[in-house]
Formats: sequence, C-alpha cells, structure tokens
Amino acid sequence: MACADVFITLLIDFNRTAYAVSRGDAQQIVEQAAEGIIVGSFDAGIMLNALQTATISLGYGTTAIGGIRYYPEKMVRLLELPAKTYPIAGMTIGVIDRDHLPKTKPRVPVESFAMRERYDSQKVKDGVDTYDRQLRAWWDNQGLEKMKSYSASLAETYTTNRYYKIASTLADQGFIFK
Ligand SMILES: Cc1cc2nc3c(=O)[nH]c(=O)nc-3n(C[C@H](O)[C@H](O)[C@H](O)COP(=O)(O)O)c2cc1C
Repeated sequence: MACADVFITLLIDFNRTAYAVSRGDAQQIVEQAAEGIIVGSFDAGIMLNALQTATISLGYGTTAIGGIRYYPEKMVRLLELPAKTYPIAGMTIGVIDRDHLPKTKPRVPVESFAMRERYDSQKVKDGVDTYDRQLRAWWDNQGLEKMKSYSASLAETYTTNRYYKIASTLADQGFIFK
C-alpha cells in the first residue's frame, strides 16, 4: 500500500478570486478561458516547487503526484471542492528511508533543452539519442534490465490519453477551455 505522512493537494482556486471580484460588484469569467486554466495550473506548479524546496530544506522527502488527475472527481468529492476550483496535482511529505536511497538518475542533457537565441531541433534529437543510451546503461548497471529507457517509457505513456476524465471534470467544476 502506498502511503505518506502528509499529502498536500494543489488547487486552481478561482472560487476565492470570484468572491473578491464580486465584492466590486463585477463578475469573474477567468475560469471560462484557456488562459485561466493555464495560469491556474502554472501557478499551482510554482507553489508545488516552493513547497518541495521548503520540504527538502527541512530534511524531509517529497514526491510530486500527478496521478490525482486519474480520478479528479474523487478528489472533488473527498475535499468538497466548490465550483471554480480544480485539483491539479498533489505532493507527499515523509521521513526519508535512508537505508533505501535511490542512486542519482542521469538527466536529459542540458544542451538539448537549454538553448540560446532559437530552438534547435537537432540538439533535441541528439539529446534524446544520448539520454536513451545513458539511461539504458544506468538501469542495466543496477540489474534492472526490465526498466524501460527514455523513448520506450515515453512511448508507453504518451500514446494513450490515460487522464481522460480531466476535460469532463473541468467542465463539471465550471471551467471552459476556449
Ligand atoms: C509533475 C510530476 C508528477 C508526478 N506524479 C507522480 C505520481 O502520480 N505518482 C508517483 O509515484 N510519482 C510521481 N512523480 C514522481 C516521479 O515518478 C519520480 O519519482 C520523480 O520525478 C523522481 O524520479 P526521476 O529521477 O525519474 O525524475 C511525479 C513527478 C513529477 C515531476
């Protein structure tokens, strides 16, 4: 069973702003625009990062959890979320098990995503090719031959829409992507 000492849910919260706007006798429409959904998600990501940095600085462990978007409607029910709010991500906080620390995993080469002046598709391809080899070797060195390398694991997750309830639950919460 997966468990954590603390679980924090990051919300888009345009319920609070709607109340603030209504105090000026105006009506908010930000949740009915693509920009509203993007800016709400973006801000939740910034908050997630700040919380994770603070957590780690205090010596605890943390994992971002995007998996709450598999069943967003259950999070809405569990947390009694009102209209104009949406559960965008979660994060765990716990005490690190120092007897089972993972080794530092190699990362996608920085030059394949940090570019100067303009986007370079060849650098992207070179980075993917390099990282595929590096990650394969990293798993194999640990005897984890069954673990998929970068391209294969992306092909597994990015070829199906596993989060198929997001659009309908956003609509249920009063959001419109337009
Ligand atoms: C945006 C985001 C969402 C994630 N969602 C989940 C999740 O739903 N469940 C989970 O077990 N780990 C989740 N993770 C953690 C990753 O699976 C992984 O453990 C973490 O990024 C560290 O591993 P890495 O070195 O491969 O990046 C998420 C990570 C990120 C950045």
